[in-house]
Amino acid sequence: MPRVLIVGALEGPLGQAARMAQARGATVAQASGVVAALARLRQEGADVVLCEVVHDAGWLIRAMLAERILCPLIACGPESEAPAALRAIREGARDFLPLPPDAELIATMLQAAAGEADERQSMVARDPAMLAVLARADQVARAEASVLVTGESGTGKELVARRIHAGSRRAAGPFVALNCAALPETLLESELFGHEKGAFTGAVAARKGKFEQAAGGTLLLDEIGEMDLRLQAKLLRAIQEREIDRLGGTRPVRVDVRILAATNRDLMAEVRAGRFREDLYFRLDVVRLRLPPLRERPGDILPLAECFAARFAAVNGLPPRPLSAAARAALLAHAWPGNVRELENALHRAVLMACGTEIGAEAIELGGATPAPAAPPPPLPQITVPAAPGLAPDAAADGIAALVGRSMEEVERELILRTLAHCLGNRTRAAEVLGISIRALRNKLQDYRGMGLPVTAAAGYAMAAR
Ligand SMILES: Nc1ncnc2c1ncn2[C@@H]1O[C@H](COP(=O)(O)OP(=O)(O)OP(=O)(O)O)[C@@H](O)[C@H]1O
Ligand SMILES: [Mg+2]
Repeated sequence: MPRVLIVGALEGPLGQAARMAQARGATVAQASGVVAALARLRQEGADVVLCEVVHDAGWLIRAMLAERILCPLIACGPESEAPAALRAIREGARDFLPLPPDAELIATMLQAAAGEADERQSMVARDPAMLAVLARADQVARAEASVLVTGESGTGKELVARRIHAGSRRAAGPFVALNCAALPETLLESELFGHEKGAFTGAVAARKGKFEQAAGGTLLLDEIGEMDLRLQAKLLRAIQEREIDRLGGTRPVRVDVRILAATNRDLMAEVRAGRFREDLYFRLDVVRLRLPPLRERPGDILPLAECFAARFAAVNGLPPRPLSAAARAALLAHAWPGNVRELENALHRAVLMACGTEIGAEAIELGGATPAPAAPPPPLPQITVPAAPGLAPDAAADGIAALVGRSMEEVERELILRTLAHCLGNRTRAAEVLGISIRALRNKLQDYRGMGLPVTAAAGYAMAAR
């Protein structure tokens, strides 16, 4: 359930947008101007801010950055305000929502901005392996115990965490998620624990962190394996003592939060390697839920594919179409290294590409890992993605030959920025595709930013501008 903060008057089209967001399951808070909005963000946080362009969105974005409040802002207003909207986008707004609002657009934006699955869609599960995991999730939901959700990337860890919250006694309280991999250490610390006025340059007022925002509810620490040791110590204390210290704070603050953690790493191996605290590991791993990768639950492939086909047809205003027999066979034969997320993306493309009354096999583009017994070895993949600024426009299309004569560093930079653009700014995904750690990716992006390349500043929401 994304938490939306509306900046502007609730009468008129913005109020209509607020009601639509609410109808989609969002919780809506309102501020009459940017100063009040900032105050609310310090107190309660939000998953997305909708700001009318008559207000100074640029000011709010700068203030949020200075105070390390990371939350996407969407500018909104009538089409006639397009110049103001453009300005807001240049200043760092994520998007522009034309008013009066379109219900589908609101839904898409909420979903994208909050990085969250559509709440009305419950989890699809048909395979016994997955049904067993969900039964266990439902069983532990009512307890207060910490749950460690493990599984490969894209297997549905966040969805399961939301389900646990929804089935818990804290369901009426907030569900707050924080991706520990997306942020550098200092930002992550502010995000988690909040800060007092004057804790750092730019901290002009106190602000509550995710721990306090999640009071009475559930806090999901996503990709916990990426947290560095110093913060792990602070986190352990927070869990053990049930109190936290804001940055620059002089006295601890009590917190009542249930912790869920997710990771795609083998945390025990991290413990053995000295990268993860053993005591914290045992605190988090009271109950463990391992989500099987999609290849271990073949019975889920077609039900999931059908659900995604129907959903993306509806979102794109297309008639629902069945999957052809050949398409089904191709889906079943694929290895799904990217799991449910890969399947979801493949079906999204297929729905858009298919012509005719069925979704045929030719509309389904699968990555290289498909076992293709009779087929000759596939040619080197040629990736074409939108060019990022500062990069040669057509090198990727020309293949390896076009790269000869250029330095490794240059090619690496181009590969990284284009992959990031290809993944729509999703760093976790980009790092995965590149086969490097998120930390390594972050450091590279930091370097590029230092070189003056346009990688936007709000880490975690950054997108190499297209
Ligand atoms: N059983 C399911 N039914 C329907 N949709 C699913 C299911 N499992 C996953 N999805 C969808 O697949 C995508 C990936 O799920 P989710 O984000 O929960 O995975 P994750 O394990 O947290 O991935 P990552 O490791 O990359 O963070 C989401 O869009 C989610 O809605
Ligand atoms: Mg996740």
